[in-house]
Amino acid sequence: MIVGIPKEIKNNESRVGMTPAGVFELVKNNHKVYVQSDAGEGSGFFNQDYQQAGAIILDTIGQVYAMSEMIVKVKEPIEEEYDLIQKGQILFTYFHFASSEALTKAMIRQKAICIAYETVEDEEGTLPLLTPMSEVAGRMAIQQGAKYLEKPVKGRGVLLGGVPGVAPGKVLVLGAGVVGIQAAKMAAGLGAHVTILDINMKRLRYVNDVMPPHVVTEFSNEFNIRRLIKTHDLIIGGVLLKGAKAPNLITRDMLKEMRPGTVIVDVAVDQGGCVETTKPTTHEDPIYIIDDVVHYSVANMPGAVPYTSTMALTNVTLPYALKLANLGWEAACAKDTSLNKGLNIVEGKVVYQEIIEAFGWEEVVA
Ligand SMILES: NC(=O)c1ccc[n+]([C@@H]2O[C@H](COP(=O)([O-])OP(=O)(O)OC[C@H]3O[C@@H](n4cnc5c(N)ncnc54)[C@H](O)[C@@H]3O)[C@@H](O)[C@H]2O)c1
Repeated sequence: MIVGIPKEIKNNESRVGMTPAGVFELVKNNHKVYVQSDAGEGSGFFNQDYQQAGAIILDTIGQVYAMSEMIVKVKEPIEEEYDLIQKGQILFTYFHFASSEALTKAMIRQKAICIAYETVEDEEGTLPLLTPMSEVAGRMAIQQGAKYLEKPVKGRGVLLGGVPGVAPGKVLVLGAGVVGIQAAKMAAGLGAHVTILDINMKRLRYVNDVMPPHVVTEFSNEFNIRRLIKTHDLIIGGVLLKGAKAPNLITRDMLKEMRPGTVIVDVAVDQGGCVETTKPTTHEDPIYIIDDVVHYSVANMPGAVPYTSTMALTNVTLPYALKLANLGWEAACAKDTSLNKGLNIVEGKVVYQEIIEAFGWEEVVA
């Protein structure tokens, strides 16, 4: 198969759809790989790295789309890319169709085969192509939170690890899923005292089993949250209700109960956030302050560490990309039920029910 890796043109996106290691595997399997010039630069991979791995470098994004049977990328195509997409071309990337009717209609029009990373689902019901980004964001949440706890950026002026003779800072983690556990682990590693909340007892038992004793679990309810926010310096929001808006576990009135300079990192911002006062921010302007509480709510946290994020993403996407290239999409999806769940639009037809429901369509609209 001929596989194309275009440069991401969405604002502030430095990740790339495939590393040179991925190209090497595809070429080893007798596939041809075109990489747009400088596509990997933002992630620290240069043209010569791709060439050494066996790729052919093309100058323009138009050439990559025109000459490839399958496009592997990171973000959903943006408007400038719509008309470049060929009929029957496989697009393997994040789409998040339910959040954009315009994108959905464009992909129906282009008659491409859209396989969405975010809906590939394994037997346990987890989303293997989303997990690494949650891992990155969870770990990063502590790094960012620790920074904004510093006084010059309006934080409480607390060093998370404390020092001999001074107690460490306290971190409250809402949700013991992928984000929450990674955040708790990083905070614990810095020596902070960590409290992690969830409504799922299985998750709390797991955390209790694997974490050191300075990570304590409590059941998530309003009573406990109101009590804990008064004494914690950094609060991480990592709650997810699949396919729904995150619940507002911290309401506006609760901010007054917190000490000035408390920092909230609401990682769940992409699902509306689990704090009532959360609104999406960017890496250029990541924080804002309400009632003396610092809010950090960057919607694409992994974008700030593209080197790590690109590698983490392609580690998990490559086996599927290889399968698609080796077998073709029909046989690959027929053989692999996880991959089959990734099929969203096939040659102009929406095949993922939730998309039709999200727009209230009775049937497929072109
Ligand atoms: N901002 C970013 O850049 C970024 C990056 C990656 C992921 N995310 C988002 O982070 C969020 C968390 O992702 P995840 O992969 O950890 O999800 P996950 O499904 O692994 O974990 C979510 C956890 O929340 C728990 N939960 C549900 N209701 C709760 C409640 N009332 N109180 C406490 N816990 C509750 C669930 O039981 C589950 O354990 C998602 O919204 C995801 O989209 C954001």
